[in-house]
Amino acid sequence: MRDAAAALAAEFAADVRRDLALTPKQLQSKYLYDQLGSSLFEAICRLPWYHITRAESRLLARHAAEIVEEFGGGTIVELGCGSGEKIVMLAEALQSRGGTARVHLIDISSQALEQTEERLTRLEHVSVVGHQSTYEEGLRRAAAARTTEDPVLVLLLGSNIGNFDTPAALDFLDRIRRTLRPGDLLLLGADLTKPEADLILAYDDPLGVTAAFNKNLLVRMNRELGADFELTRFAHRAAWTASEQRIEMHLVSLAVQRVTIAPSGVIVNFDAGEHIWTESSYKYDPEELQDMGATAGFMTLKQWIDPEAAFALTVFLA
Ligand code: AVJ
Repeated sequence: MRDAAAALAAEFAADVRRDLALTPKQLQSKYLYDQLGSSLFEAICRLPWYHITRAESRLLARHAAEIVEEFGGGTIVELGCGSGEKIVMLAEALQSRGGTARVHLIDISSQALEQTEERLTRLEHVSVVGHQSTYEEGLRRAAAARTTEDPVLVLLLGSNIGNFDTPAALDFLDRIRRTLRPGDLLLLGADLTKPEADLILAYDDPLGVTAAFNKNLLVRMNRELGADFELTRFAHRAAWTASEQRIEMHLVSLAVQRVTIAPSGVIVNFDAGEHIWTESSYKYDPEELQDMGATAGFMTLKQWIDPEAAFALTVFLA
């Protein structure tokens, strides 16, 4: 575990150095989720302007029984478990049906893993293994641990797929499908295209929680990499790019400034108005999601839409 943490720390330093040298400057969104970042994300999920979490819970509450009926029990692999509310809903539905599950939780955040494991321990019909890793690495480990002929249910919920650009999302779905066998399932929760004004409110909320979530990346680089970002000299921005159907989060430099990342001595220069691109959240149409699944070799079994929030839950068969 300590080795894993050390490896992740070294990777963070190398990725920051590389991605801040790009034009535009970038940082990978997976780095938003340190301890404070994970707590801020949980707060975002409770904001009245951020509908994804509640919409998905409504759909799961309505359809969990049907999903576990299709699955029956076996191995559940959750990619990005967050605080674990959703897998608990499915595990409880499985319990009512008398099924059992071996659960693999994959998350970059140790806090997310601990919380989800904690929530699942009181359920005696499930056993849990946590993997603090990227999705790719976790998927490899979960696939390697597969020993039985029991079905596998992969969960990719909360619109986590939205962080991938479309070719990468297709590639990732394909990679998931290739770790599966015919009869296995993928449950995909994805946010749908909606009016720009609603999206801006969701990603630049009036309470400033999303701004804090984004700017915490600067706090993290200062603490973990010895950088000297001045927080008051950067602003949070959410921008909708219609042609790409994506919301981008930016950290905008409010002045000409120079930041140093010690001890590596890397110097990063900013123009006034120049930004660091910290996240993309792609939005899809329901049919597009089905087509992406089909391209990756899945068949759509079910698709449910929450019309209030414009959110889709799709069950794919490998
Ligand atoms: C966890 C990636 C699905 O893109 O909506 C929330 C993260 N960023 N507010 C999303 C996020 C800003 C979230 N995902």
